[in-house]
Amino acid sequence: MSHKTNCSKEEEALLLEKCQEAKRHSYSPYSHFPVGAALLTKEGKLYTGCNVENAAYPTSLCAERTAIVKAVSEGHREFKAIAISSNLTDSFISPCGGCRQMMAEFSLDMTVYMTKADGSFLTRTVDELLPFAFTPVRMKENRLDDASTCPNPGRDS
Ligand code: THU
Repeated sequence: MSHKTNCSKEEEALLLEKCQEAKRHSYSPYSHFPVGAALLTKEGKLYTGCNVENAAYPTSLCAERTAIVKAVSEGHREFKAIAISSNLTDSFISPCGGCRQMMAEFSLDMTVYMTKADGSFLTRTVDELLPFAFTPVRMKENRLDDASTCPNPGRDS
């Protein structure tokens, strides 16, 4: 059932339990699609998250990003694994593109546990879910001077 993981059996069990618990706090009156997430930092701290929707739909936040933002805002930037739960019975809940990008910002090697409502799961690394990711490394690489390719007003004018 499982693919591969860097977590112990205990960590795995905790992540799977906590992502189900987190789903209970979902605020999803518009989609009626509750999602929960549990995120384990490399230091061993656990943060949970749920989707938090808004009457202005694009303002909504996914469960995975809620958990990541909670962890980063408390000083954690390296993650070991994240588990995601939803009420889908026939499919494993799989993170959206925006959440994959947010995961890639911090930990390409993190394991993502994608579960079904019955608790069965599938795992992949973020690297596998988002191949050829645009990551912070790219921002440090050699590049052309932007002023010569795309003059932007404001800085020097
Ligand atoms: N959602 C998540 O929170 N995580 C996912 O992995 C997929 C989608 C949320 C966003 C929205 O609140 C609802 O599920 C329906 O898209």
